[in-house]
Amino acid sequence: MDEITVTVNGRRRPLQGATAHTTALDWLRDTGLSGSKEGCAEGECGACAMLLASPADDGGTTWTAVNACLMPVASLNGQEVVTAEGLGSPDALHPVQQKLAEAGGSQCGYCTPGFACSMAGEYYRADRVPAAPGEEVCEEHGPNGFDLHALSGNLCRCTGYRPIRDAAYTLGSPDATDELAARRTRPAPRAVPTDFEAGAGRFIRPATLDETLRLLRDEPTALLVAGSTDLGVEVNLRGRRAPLMVAIEQLDELRNLTITDEFVEIGAALPLSDAERRLGDRVPLLAQLFPQFASRLIRNRGTFGGNLGTGSPIGDTPPALLALGARLVLASVDGEREVELADYFTGYRQTVRRADELIRAIRIPLPLARVTAFHKIAKRRFDDISSVAIGFALDIDDGVIAAARIGLGGVAATPLRAYATEAALIGEPWNVSTVRAGSAVLQGEGTPMSDHRASSDYRSLMLGSALLKLYSSTVIESKEVSA
Ligand SMILES: Cc1cc2nc3c(=O)[nH]c(=O)nc-3n(C[C@H](O)[C@H](O)[C@H](O)COP(=O)(O)OP(=O)(O)OC[C@H]3O[C@@H](n4cnc5c(N)ncnc54)[C@H](O)[C@@H]3O)c2cc1C
Ligand code: FES
Ligand code: FES
Repeated sequence: MDEITVTVNGRRRPLQGATAHTTALDWLRDTGLSGSKEGCAEGECGACAMLLASPADDGGTTWTAVNACLMPVASLNGQEVVTAEGLGSPDALHPVQQKLAEAGGSQCGYCTPGFACSMAGEYYRADRVPAAPGEEVCEEHGPNGFDLHALSGNLCRCTGYRPIRDAAYTLGSPDATDELAARRTRPAPRAVPTDFEAGAGRFIRPATLDETLRLLRDEPTALLVAGSTDLGVEVNLRGRRAPLMVAIEQLDELRNLTITDEFVEIGAALPLSDAERRLGDRVPLLAQLFPQFASRLIRNRGTFGGNLGTGSPIGDTPPALLALGARLVLASVDGEREVELADYFTGYRQTVRRADELIRAIRIPLPLARVTAFHKIAKRRFDDISSVAIGFALDIDDGVIAAARIGLGGVAATPLRAYATEAALIGEPWNVSTVRAGSAVLQGEGTPMSDHRASSDYRSLMLGSALLKLYSSTVIESKEVSA
């Protein structure tokens, strides 16, 4: 086996002392790079953020901010990362460090390396465009084009966010001597096939999809790992030690995004941020979902395949994809089969996917419904798991509901379709009395339970008010159109 190495801040380092379950954060800190901090070890605080050289759409490299605490370091074999130590030094601060210092954006400093890395990821975003003189900018963007969502996965407990935002909004653009900016013009490192066994586990990155499927057939204990934003939490907080992890997030067949006349196909291992950027407004329901899903740091690694692979009843993508009538493409050595997402979930964290199958892609049929919305009810606006999530997709022809699909999350042991509500709506006029009648049915869907996120009564009430919220938004929209 070739030696496993990771290029950190421009220097290749061997993976000495790591096991298959060692996180990138633990390894960095063990090698003396203690700039990256551990605040939570579950992707919530961003103190561990670092930059990963990832493929850009133009064939070059983009610097993607990711949570080092969630990734197995073995997944970085042959890859390049930059930590806060690699951005600048006390004598020659990087522009993001300089601005943070000038704006008073750091007090105890524990969160600062993570903020600096997330900020640097946005600083180097190739399509960050400053506003034209006099152009109005929304409050979540700076005049320099800085998107504040880039910091949505970073928490600071003592400075307060205004100075940090001030630092971000006064950043300029990289100059001609900036090495990390220049690095963007060369391709990102390719995935390196890996077979690393150390400690209580083995980490394999197969070279091809065929090899992956053969492994799934032959190794009943194999556990797929994509962005590791779920798995990393299991490893760190619940001590999960899968004997064999099989990395799939760099398989080309799982990273495509294709739009045909019949469907939009999203590769199961395409990071959510990439899907978000590449789809733009093409699927409005998903465009509403993405900004509400976790944080930019999590979306930079998390995938549709991982969200569906857990079979969780509270994932955000199932309610949206159920409303869109999505189908899953499941692949095994025997070939591919398509499954309606509505038939995929069979019980709490159980699905029809066999152990020898993986989700290769998600297919969303076209044309899309004309009225769509995604409602997420959670305790925080960003970076929080849903208490209830609802996806709506309706066709309203001449004021009458011609078709309706409603997906629900957080109200039963599985995500589900609100079939009774759909039946109550179809064929009825889109007006307040239909909406009231439909709301009464929707409030009774599912079997919500009480937990630390919400009580069962609260969840039912949220269902009961969702249609009215959708209706009022369509009425406001049509008033705006006719005005
Ligand atoms: C701080 C934080 C915030 C979060 N916020 C949200 C949120 O707002 N909404 C939400 O829905 N989730 C949220 N999550 C959960 C998580 O980010 C998502 O579920 C994400 O989509 C998982 O994708 P992944 O690629 O990282 O999965 P991984 O962790 O790599 O894998 C998760 C599971 O899916 C399996 N799997 C992965 N890919 C496939 C595939 N192609 N086929 C079959 N099985 C597969 C794996 O074997 C594993 O069991 C959050 C997580 C964290 C840590
Ligand atoms: S340590 Fe908190 S997100 Fe990684
Ligand atoms: S400066 Fe102390 S946590 Fe942010």
